Amino acid sequence: ELERLGASIGRPVVVARITASTNDDARRAAASGAPHGAAFLADAQTRGRGRSGHAWHSPPGENLYLSVVLRPRIDPRALPPLALVLGVCVARVVDEVLGASRARAGVKWPNDVLVDGKKLAGLLVETALRGGTIDAVIAGVGLNVHAASFPAELASRATSLHALGGAGLDRSSLAARLLAEIGHAVRSFEADGLGAFHGELQRRDVLRGVPIDVSGISGTAAGIDHEGYLLVIGSDGETHRIGSGSVTTHGP
Ligand code: BTN
Repeated sequence: ELERLGASIGRPVVVARITASTNDDARRAAASGAPHGAAFLADAQTRGRGRSGHAWHSPPGENLYLSVVLRPRIDPRALPPLALVLGVCVARVVDEVLGASRARAGVKWPNDVLVDGKKLAGLLVETALRGGTIDAVIAGVGLNVHAASFPAELASRATSLHALGGAGLDRSSLAARLLAEIGHAVRSFEADGLGAFHGELQRRDVLRGVPIDVSGISGTAAGIDHEGYLLVIGSDGETHRIGSGSVTTHGP
């Protein structure tokens, strides 16, 4: 039981100079028995990926690319909100680094971390199956750290800790802080689901009150419920509970 404690997250840590995707490294390792908490970092990725098959901008020397093998002891049906929990972990570390006294980093359901309306980090949570059951969860975090500029198509939407004035930007120590945060959070999530995170999620929810489109529904985001569903009040006045999907915002 001891090795399940949060402190065991990040053992071992495997660091690559360049890799295709740390999520793939973690997935391969999980298939050959890597323990809960094994972590994979790279200086650069050649095929870094985000949700919906998007590429994740992964140049060398700039950002954090981290994937962790998790073997949470929970019902697979309870897994989806884990991405939100990991978003809270990243947001906490970001606030620390930015010296923000109250929740400055926001979580955009289901898997982004934003500051001042720009994306600072993305999460890619994948499952590794074995014989039809979930063998491991691969939690990937891409956090923009030093990046001073982005490719033109990202420039208006992305930001980095550096651009936000973050100090003490050592990627190894950021990774260590994140791993510690994730270790504790996963333990709490196993025990209580979103319970310990729900209040903080509400405070960090950047979509609340915003007009959005998601899963064919247009309406106004109205918070995240205790099971991690996004609540949307549709133009029909009905409240919809959305379990997965990509959110489009419009407006100013
Ligand atoms: C998203 O916003 O769509 C998720 C982006 C996740 C990027 C990280 S970087 C480390 C890990 N390896 C990958 O290939 N993707 C994740």
